[in-house]
Amino acid sequence: MNIKDPMQDDSNNSSSAISRRHFLKSSTIAASAAGTGFLAGCARNKKAVAVAAAVTAPAVVNAQAKQPINAVIIGLGGRGSGAGRDFTEAAKAAGVEGKIVGVADIFPEAARKAAETFGVPADKTFSGFDAYQKVLALPGVNYAILATPPGFRASHFKAAIEAGKNVFMEKPVAVDGPGCRIMYEAAELSKQKGLKVAAGTQRRHQAGYQETIKRIKDGAIGDIVTLRAYWVNGGPIWHRGDHGETEMERQIRNWYHYIWLCGDHICEQHVHNIDVCNWIVGDHPVKAWGMGARQQLNGKSGEIWDNFAIEYEYANGVRLYSYCGQIKREWSSVSEGVQGTKGSADPSSRIQPKGGEMWRYRKQDKDISPYVQEHIDLINAITNNTELNEAKQVTDSTLTAIMGREAAYSGAGVDWDTVLNSTFAYGPELLYKDPASMQWGPSRVLQPPMPSEHNIFKNPPMAPAAKA
Ligand SMILES: NC(=O)c1ccc[n+]([C@@H]2O[C@H](COP(=O)([O-])OP(=O)(O)OC[C@H]3O[C@@H](n4cnc5c(N)ncnc54)[C@H](O)[C@@H]3O)[C@@H](O)[C@H]2O)c1
Repeated sequence: MNIKDPMQDDSNNSSSAISRRHFLKSSTIAASAAGTGFLAGCARNKKAVAVAAAVTAPAVVNAQAKQPINAVIIGLGGRGSGAGRDFTEAAKAAGVEGKIVGVADIFPEAARKAAETFGVPADKTFSGFDAYQKVLALPGVNYAILATPPGFRASHFKAAIEAGKNVFMEKPVAVDGPGCRIMYEAAELSKQKGLKVAAGTQRRHQAGYQETIKRIKDGAIGDIVTLRAYWVNGGPIWHRGDHGETEMERQIRNWYHYIWLCGDHICEQHVHNIDVCNWIVGDHPVKAWGMGARQQLNGKSGEIWDNFAIEYEYANGVRLYSYCGQIKREWSSVSEGVQGTKGSADPSSRIQPKGGEMWRYRKQDKDISPYVQEHIDLINAITNNTELNEAKQVTDSTLTAIMGREAAYSGAGVDWDTVLNSTFAYGPELLYKDPASMQWGPSRVLQPPMPSEHNIFKNPPMAPAAKA
């Protein structure tokens, strides 16, 4: 299960020594940057869902007493294990005792391997569909790392928040409208409970992006006119083959290729670049048009496409041109670009004013990996009880990706409210209500979407299943 996907490990920052002084300084910057984006996004969410659930006390750690942070990991493939190591390094840097106290994976072999890596005893190592519930119920847990395939994220996040845990969760956080609505509700509840939440959109914790985007927001390139986002790989994504006794097992083992588990490439990976654009604009788009295809996956099992081109429109009229693909090609780029009235920028590190001198972010020795920094920022927010909650902003970016995907799948223009309120669920009913009760057995397979034949917003929805 633990196949490392180099194409998903997209940060080009290397980890270097972390001083406690830098930890405190950079944590403050990141927390305030995240807070700005979050509040800006909040202003637009007319659909905010009222949460009536009982509010329990947040798992806040007292900074003076330096109480330990007891973390559990749910989903222990490449990223879950990586996030466990990043958390451990971040806790050390923060001078806080941080420990992985429990692990949960749907497959026992992955859970056991991680237990060995992190020194977790057998009675705190869980597997099965309900493993997440068991690990969240361990005593003293105050930090949950969620790193399963995205389809499970919304329900697992809801469970973690209801259990009063601070959360680090990988992106994307849903694959469809029903999943995003669970996320928005749980995000609201997490705020009410004072819980801290960080998302695996690590560019928000990367010094070069933070500094450059601050300058863009301060007017370095004037008013923004257009943005461009690429996740254009020069090769195909992994395909793990069809292993397992039931269709459900075959799909979960090869999850990237099923929309209900992965959300397709635009959602699964390109969400990073879309998130950067939403961060810059301080909003999410309201409409999308697009196209795409399944060009180089023929003959392989699965439902997804391997390339998309989407045009997004924000409420203020700004356009975002988004391209992603996972097909063999000579040219590739994972990047973003911004055009303003007074210049242009690569938001990771460069600003070119019209007729002026280029400004560049120079990487510094003290810069640390954003994969570690995101945990430092979360630990810092917990220990100091400062604001850090990225649940809504990462859901906005996830829904942006879903809106573009459905525009391309259907061949029709799609607006925000339609996708947010859509009732078609890609996953089985229990995924949204009670994933702990799911079972190994049959699972629906869709035909790879074909524009004009696939439109989940029609009544009844058009999403033909593959012939058995
Ligand atoms: N931020 C980043 O740069 C980055 C990089 C890589 C992956 N990711 C994200 O991390 C997530 C996981 O990706 P990965 O590469 O680690 O995949 P992976 O296949 O290596 O690992 C997923 C793990 O989750 C387990 N799992 C599946 N369903 C589960 C369930 N219901 N309960 C518990 N465990 C379950 C699997 O058995 C597997 O061990 C994805 O959302 C991906 O987008 C983010």
